Amino acid sequence: MATNAASAPAGPVPFKDVVVDNVDLVTTMPAERYSKDDGDVLVSALPSKLVAGSTNSQRMLRCYQGFWLPESFVPAAIGLHRRFVPRPNDVIIASLPKCGTTWLNALAFATMARRSYPPAGADHPLLRLSPHQCVPFLDALLAGGGREARLDALPSPRLMYTHMPQTMLPRAGGCRVVYICREPKDTAVSLWHFRRSIHPELSFADTFESICGGANPYGPFWDHILGYWRASESGPENVLFLRYEELLRDPAENVRKLARFVGMPFSQAEEEAGVVRGIVELCSLESLKNQEVNRNGYMDGLKFPRKALFRKGVAGDWVNHMTPEMARRMDEIVADKLRATGLTFQ
Ligand code: A3P
Repeated sequence: MATNAASAPAGPVPFKDVVVDNVDLVTTMPAERYSKDDGDVLVSALPSKLVAGSTNSQRMLRCYQGFWLPESFVPAAIGLHRRFVPRPNDVIIASLPKCGTTWLNALAFATMARRSYPPAGADHPLLRLSPHQCVPFLDALLAGGGREARLDALPSPRLMYTHMPQTMLPRAGGCRVVYICREPKDTAVSLWHFRRSIHPELSFADTFESICGGANPYGPFWDHILGYWRASESGPENVLFLRYEELLRDPAENVRKLARFVGMPFSQAEEEAGVVRGIVELCSLESLKNQEVNRNGYMDGLKFPRKALFRKGVAGDWVNHMTPEMARRMDEIVADKLRATGLTFQ
């Protein structure tokens, strides 16, 4: 992928503000325009399952290289891995859905763009755009239709996000990745609430079963988490591994960690001026939840209402949804999968 950002202003800039050749930034690709074939991968020949509770074949998952990806995003996995050439100062946020992606997108954007957009500024992009409009979603952009050209137009450093597993990151390597994980039982509960915003009939039991069986979008959870965990252990300068619960406990310290990792540590003067505090406040659940843009409308290209991205934002909500047996079962699966890896959720 070519870079034409030499004369552009410093990034990241809000993705929604970048227009390339009058192409609409946020249209949904019609399903028939997705490439079903890419090289030697025939998407329609991959094992398939419907997303839990879905009767709609458009909500099909395909098992690609051990992960259950939304069917329309399989070409994106291939494109991301084989064709996407990151710039050395690119930063990719990676996560499973419902692990705090929106929050981390907001924090990373506010941190990396703070010189152009001071967090206390009345014209900060996060006051008029959702975090996902500021930070492009690679899985949708690389899914077909030539939309990745929009990424070329972004000035460096670029900030992007993906839900793809670590093995599907660009094989060219060379960019920094910030991964956020969350306690799996809470992730399951959050996923159920989110999906219920458009499928009110979806039972928690169905969601739980699909997660335990590994066949949920981007699952199995544990393989996704382990891939990034191992990459962070072997290359901590390339992959920063964050936890949602830690962000809740001490957001400021995690923002500092993030800033150091992306090569933009806070100066003493910024510390004294309260810049870190400003970023944490701007990106707090209350702040984001109450922005007009986040209370109304739908996620770009998706059917989910934006307000469904902001719910309770706590650790331990699983106790309100799981029986002790369900909790024990999921804990056992996770403990078994993570055994002897050095990673735990206890
Ligand atoms: P809950 O459903 O448990 O409340 P994602 O962004 O990956 O979809 O994750 C959504 C989860 O992150 C939701 O969890 C949501 O409430 C929580 N969240 C969103 N913004 C947040 C913020 N600013 N601070 C803390 N949690 C936040």
